[in-house]
Amino acid sequence: MHFTDSTAIEREYTQCDSATESLVNGDGEFLREVLEGLSRPHRAIPCRFLYDAAGSAIFDSICQLPEYYPTRTERQILEINADAIAASISGDLRFIELGAGSGGKAEILLDAMDKARAYVCIDISPVPLASAAAAVRARYPGLAVSAVCGNYLGQLDLPPRRALRDVCFFPGSTIGNFERDDARGFLREWRNRLGPDGMMLIGVDLKKNAAVLEAAYDDAQGITAAFSLNLLHRANRELGANFNTDAFRHCARYVSNPGHVEISLVSQTEQVVAIAGRTFQFAKGEAIHVENSHKYAINEFAALAGKAGFESVDVWTDDDALFSVHLLCVAH
Ligand code: AVI
Repeated sequence: MHFTDSTAIEREYTQCDSATESLVNGDGEFLREVLEGLSRPHRAIPCRFLYDAAGSAIFDSICQLPEYYPTRTERQILEINADAIAASISGDLRFIELGAGSGGKAEILLDAMDKARAYVCIDISPVPLASAAAAVRARYPGLAVSAVCGNYLGQLDLPPRRALRDVCFFPGSTIGNFERDDARGFLREWRNRLGPDGMMLIGVDLKKNAAVLEAAYDDAQGITAAFSLNLLHRANRELGANFNTDAFRHCARYVSNPGHVEISLVSQTEQVVAIAGRTFQFAKGEAIHVENSHKYAINEFAALAGKAGFESVDVWTDDDALFSVHLLCVAH
């Protein structure tokens, strides 16, 4: 049985305040970060700026690529193990999804979880958030659905828990885009937010052969290259920069210790780029770092979660050991 009194909660929590609005739209943040990042000895632009509307659409295409195994492998793990995952979580629960639009992965689990009473979706972008919430509401008419427009990495007001066990779902190996210390900090924050019987179900990409990883992040069709280069196109569009995007090349390299794919845009020539009255001189071969995607062995991730105050309950993987889904519970 599901609650049916979702409307008030929705009205209260489907919010997008001005602080959130400025996170989505920038308020000069992109300009500040680009100028600051390009002024460093090792130039870098934070990977969150990859996801404007164009970047998000390219990322959707990445998820369909033959070389990019994480999306389909995680889905397959969830499909095969949905009943086992549901059976590992006792009691009535509130399912909290971090990020909207996991392409139906939440539904795979909700279909198997007859004890899910409430669903909360958290995303910084109001449009995908609204459609994710609407899709869940339409499919599970009895579930209390709330949409929280905000940054799940920062300050958040969640609807009251009402005696339900919080189960936080963080799919896609998005945790891999945090540096290792930040990943631990993020898990610790959610551990404290979830309450004493809280759980976390999290998708984590596994360490593997460098060739498989480098192909996944530098595909034959050049879609991932277009995703990285969109950052320079975005700077040209939004900041009036004059990057010659043909003069930078996408490069993905696996660094086995500690284990991450490092993605950068490498200048193919000596060149000068102008942005907002500043100029940046690039040597041939000089890189702008745009993203790391960290990979974890199963025990390594369980140890990291342990340092953040979680205990490992179970972990599921695929036959080729490409990807893992960890179920964690709050440790006491
Ligand atoms: C979103 N995130 C988990 C992706 C990853 O695999 O690290 C981002 C990505 N960048 C290039 N390809 C995919």
